[in-house]
Amino acid sequence: MIIEQIKEISEGIFEEIRAFRRDMHQHPELSFQEVETQKKVRVYLEKIGVDSIETCATTGLVALIKGKNPAKKTVALRADIDALPINELNEVPYKSQNQGVMHACGHDVHTSSLLGAATILTQLKSEFEGTIKLVVQPGEEKLPGGASIMIKEGVLNNPDVDAMVGQHVMPLIDAGKVGFRSGLYMASADEIYITIHGKGGHGAHPHMNIDPVTIAAQVITALQQVVSRSAKPAMPSVLSIGKIIGLGATNVIPSKVEMEGTFRTFNEKWRMEAHEKIVQITTQIAEAFGATCDVEVRKGYPFLNNDEQKTETARKAAIEYLGEENVEELDIWPAGEDFAYFSQEVPSCFYRLGIRNEEKGITSMLHTPTFDIDEKALKVGAGLMAYIAITELGEA
Ligand code: NI
Repeated sequence: MIIEQIKEISEGIFEEIRAFRRDMHQHPELSFQEVETQKKVRVYLEKIGVDSIETCATTGLVALIKGKNPAKKTVALRADIDALPINELNEVPYKSQNQGVMHACGHDVHTSSLLGAATILTQLKSEFEGTIKLVVQPGEEKLPGGASIMIKEGVLNNPDVDAMVGQHVMPLIDAGKVGFRSGLYMASADEIYITIHGKGGHGAHPHMNIDPVTIAAQVITALQQVVSRSAKPAMPSVLSIGKIIGLGATNVIPSKVEMEGTFRTFNEKWRMEAHEKIVQITTQIAEAFGATCDVEVRKGYPFLNNDEQKTETARKAAIEYLGEENVEELDIWPAGEDFAYFSQEVPSCFYRLGIRNEEKGITSMLHTPTFDIDEKALKVGAGLMAYIAITELGEA
């Protein structure tokens, strides 16, 4: 019965939500510069009549929607609002008007879906007990992200959050469907920066030099053993070196080689051990060949854990709302996500919103210049999120 009400409201507000998404897509703003976006979200929240709105983390917002007996329980719903430094290549009426900046990670979809859910929940305030906290997060794409800043500023308190829910678009899932995974879902993501300092010189006289190129090659190969030999086989880990710069020539050995990469995994203890190994292996290989090195492992987001109970409640709600055939089981996804900080503080569920439509040619992956969505996903994005929020509030 409540599902029917939500679906009806969600149909009724679809065009408005789509218009918000298109406007946001046309006017993307980079991390922590989301000034206009913040204004527009605030105006929208004022219009639908939430109970309070506050600024958080400078360009973020926190708003409350109070149901009956508001002190009973609080469920937080989160959307991120920043865009990426990518030049959009889609030829659509809502193409980015901000050259070189694009909503290529669907944060426009998350935000407009959250506003849709908020509209539904304000209209159904008399139908649920507890409080809904809307968390509009800036700077998801940049380290340190907005989530940890919001937590420091008290976003999870006053009222204390009992459960937190976030959604993210997923180009591998068809629009109209969603995906869930209980437990470990997304990886911690750390950045590796290495410089091998050797001694440059003529390529014909390697014995008179210290060749940082061959040392770098050994370091790259040896670091793979952190993942293949030191990590427990059951613990997913990824180590990729994606950048190597050694500015020598056919006959010139350079004096240094710089490398950058990423390390991802799903366990804090192992993560710290791996960091030590990365430093140790690199330093000792460099030393063995007479070179020196600088190694820095810069900590990024922690791993994202989906609370089993909250996730099962959300999954059950999704099956009721969309039907079992439209609810998929997700695989582990070794990308990083700032929502992980929230998941480390309160029981959380981060699920995936399908946006793919092969017939319409909508298949591009996240962070690509041709990323787009089948906008019918917005109906699910708004309606299902509202229903999950009400279901989580109703759980003991
Ligand atoms: Ni994203």
